[in-house]
Amino acid sequence: MRVATNWDRYYKRIKISQITLGFIWKAYLDLLNGVHFRQPVKVIELGCGTGYNTLQIAKLFPVSKVTLVDANPKVLAVAEKKLSRLKCKKEFVLKDLFNLDLSEKYDIVHSQGLLEHYPLESRRKLVQLHKESLATDGVAIIIVPTPSPVYKLWRGMLEMMHLWIYTDEVAITRAEFTADLEASNLQILKMKMYHLTELGALCKARS
Ligand SMILES: C[S@@+](CC[C@H](N)C(=O)[O-])C[C@H]1O[C@@H](n2cnc3c(N)ncnc32)[C@H](O)[C@@H]1O
Repeated sequence: MRVATNWDRYYKRIKISQITLGFIWKAYLDLLNGVHFRQPVKVIELGCGTGYNTLQIAKLFPVSKVTLVDANPKVLAVAEKKLSRLKCKKEFVLKDLFNLDLSEKYDIVHSQGLLEHYPLESRRKLVQLHKESLATDGVAIIIVPTPSPVYKLWRGMLEMMHLWIYTDEVAITRAEFTADLEASNLQILKMKMYHLTELGALCKARS
């Protein structure tokens, strides 16, 4: 039976998770390499956590608006604080992504550490949400853990030490990830393995 990850528990270790975010941002940078926009961009992060990656994106591109969505009030408050100096329109949405009703479209739609917490049908709904939120010529970035030998070793060690807290996490294979993206009619522009444990994809909507 699926036991949902306790995100409050995760965010108690926020300092540790911030170290890993530095690595994750390198994956974003690689995926965004070669991506250009003619105008300031609108960015949305789905399951934003601390909003770290959105903040970094705003240093990379001129940004007109950022929207950050998370169902956890504590971490959304952290994200709000973290992005307080950012000079653009900001929206912090405390909501379950499965009940999100978005009217706007975004040039960059992204998530990291989200899909793997849901079974297939819900995972695909989340991918569809990325797709539906895309503006014309917009790009989606999704990063998920994948069951590589290093992932299995690292997870096995944490489980043995009773330090594994992601109770509903199921790492996603390249074939599953590809099928999820294609099921939403997303065109994969790049898909790469990062730090031996994660897969990142850069996609656009198929026309
Ligand atoms: C691994 S964390 C993301 C970390 C984030 N990338 C960062 O930079 O801090 C996953 C986040 O997704 C959020 N989340 C998971 N399922 C959600 C849902 N159905 N609706 C809204 N937020 C959700 C959790 O509350 C959690 O903050």
